[in-house]
Amino acid sequence: MDVIPSLARWFHFMAGIMWVGLLYYFNFVQMAALKSAMADGSAAAINRHVVPRALAWFRWASVATWLTGAALLGANFTAAFALRPGHVLIGIGAWLGTIMLVNVWALLWPAQKMVLGLVEASEAQKVAARRRAFIVSRLNLVLSFPLLFFMGAAGHSATYF
Ligand code: HEM
Repeated sequence: MDVIPSLARWFHFMAGIMWVGLLYYFNFVQMAALKSAMADGSAAAINRHVVPRALAWFRWASVATWLTGAALLGANFTAAFALRPGHVLIGIGAWLGTIMLVNVWALLWPAQKMVLGLVEASEAQKVAARRRAFIVSRLNLVLSFPLLFFMGAAGHSATYF
């Protein structure tokens, strides 16, 4: 049994489940919960005790998923990202995962730092950042659906097509 690819696939699954799992938690649970908590004045506890922890696991799970995915690609890394014949399915999945990773670190996290008061921001900037975080999180939610299709299809194309 090739240990490295097997370990990379195992860690890729675990990191991918953590990343997408928290993405679904933010979109399907936390956003609605924070909205009603803000209405009855109980949002501070969620923002202080839950959100920073969830965001930390989310951010680093995205990096771990990408690195283990790249390790799984190995020598096919360029062929996959160049969408060469025979690597198109995993290539599309890898590009979707890469776009989602960039969204997390370049757009979502800077916006969340403003919303959580981890960096200086005016009230108007916080409102704009909250809107940006909402849109980017929804975008990554939508991207996760074709991503998971192509991740599965890549290894089981005979079954899918
Ligand atoms: C949210 C992000 C991601 C999730 C949840 C995810 C999930 C998965 C899952 C569940 C599989 C196993 C499919 C199977 O064998 O049935 C898989 C396979 C794979 N993933 Fe990902 N993945 C993600 C991102 C990435 C990225 C960014 C890359 C590349 C940089 C990547 C590269 C791979 C490779 C090479 C395979 C093996 C495909 C094969 O069996 O031929 N993944 N991924």
